[in-house]
Parts: sequence; C-alpha cells; structure tokens
Amino acid sequence: MKIVVLYDSVFGNTKLVAEEIAKAAGKGAKLVSAADFKAEDIADADLIVVGSPTRAFNPTPGMAGVLKTLPSLAGKKALVFDTRSDKADLNSKAFNFFEKTFGYAAEKMAKALKKKGAVLADLPAGFFVADAEGPMKEGELKRAAEWAKANIK
Ligand SMILES: Cc1cc2nc3c(=O)[nH]c(=O)nc-3n(C[C@H](O)[C@H](O)[C@H](O)COP(=O)(O)O)c2cc1C
Repeated sequence: MKIVVLYDSVFGNTKLVAEEIAKAAGKGAKLVSAADFKAEDIADADLIVVGSPTRAFNPTPGMAGVLKTLPSLAGKKALVFDTRSDKADLNSKAFNFFEKTFGYAAEKMAKALKKKGAVLADLPAGFFVADAEGPMKEGELKRAAEWAKANIK
C-alpha cells in the first residue's frame, strides 16, 4: 500500500506527529509538507494522511489551500489529524464556547477530503500540545503512532 503523509506545521509539533505517523506506517510512507506539495505526490497513493495545527478553529491557510487544489481522490482512503490545545488546560469558558461552535482543523480537513471523493478510514483525530508552541503533551506522540498502526492496514 502506498501511503503519503501530508502535513503543515508552524512551530514544528504537527511535523513531529506526522513523522511519528510516517514511521508507524512502515517503510515507504512518504512525508510531504504542504509548502512542498505537488499533485503528483499523491497520484499513486492508496492512503493519504493529512495533518495540520488547529489555528483559529481551522487548518492553516497553507493546508486549506492545498486541499482546495487537490485532484479527485476517488478510490483513495484518507486519515486526518490535527494538533490542538487541550481545553482542560485552558479552562476558559470563552474557548469552550467557540470550540463547541467552530470545532477543530481535523473535522474541516475531513470534510474537504470527502468532498474530493476520499473515504475516511477513521474519525478525525486530535493530538494535544502542552502549550501553543509545544511541546506535545506527554504520551501524545505515542498515541499518534498507535492511532496510525490501528488505522493503516
Ligand atoms: C494563532 C493561534 C491560533 C490557535 N487557535 C487554536 C484553536 O482554535 N484551537 C486549538 O485547540 N488550538 C489553537 N491554537 C494552538 C495550536 O493548535 C498549536 O499552536 C499547534 O497545535 C502547534 O502546532 P505546530 O507546532 O505544528 O504549529 C492556536 C495557536 C495559535 C498560535
């Protein structure tokens, strides 16, 4: 199975998660950043894993732009993940309100990929940062690897 892990990252945390997922996916998984992405990168992929930080409840503009320009994904599987703040840590009523209303990057990316014809292999996933600039919360890189292993078959 050909796997491409496509990611964007501002502070490097989503990149670390993407690397962990590519490693868990086994040899041959190709890692591509949104900035370097070309449509030919996924031409023969069976599964694409797409990850972005959640910024203002959405994927980065870079990732959103890439998803918009993707060709048809009919016949391909997809997995999506984001990195995000843990609302339990923020303990902010305002954040909880907006989070309920506007959600996270992964859901938006899932919608965009489905629109292009991909079939989601699992629900959108979110992995927690300890702080906006990182690092990832303890255990999250391991959880990401386990999620990848459970869903990449
Ligand atoms: C401008 C900005 C907006 C953010 N918006 C959200 C948000 O809406 N929801 C959330 O859970 N985390 C939010 N965060 C935290 C980011 O998700 C966190 O910075 C990101 O996971 C780090 O990933 P990266 O190192 O790959 O850039 C925001 C952070 C910044 C700096």
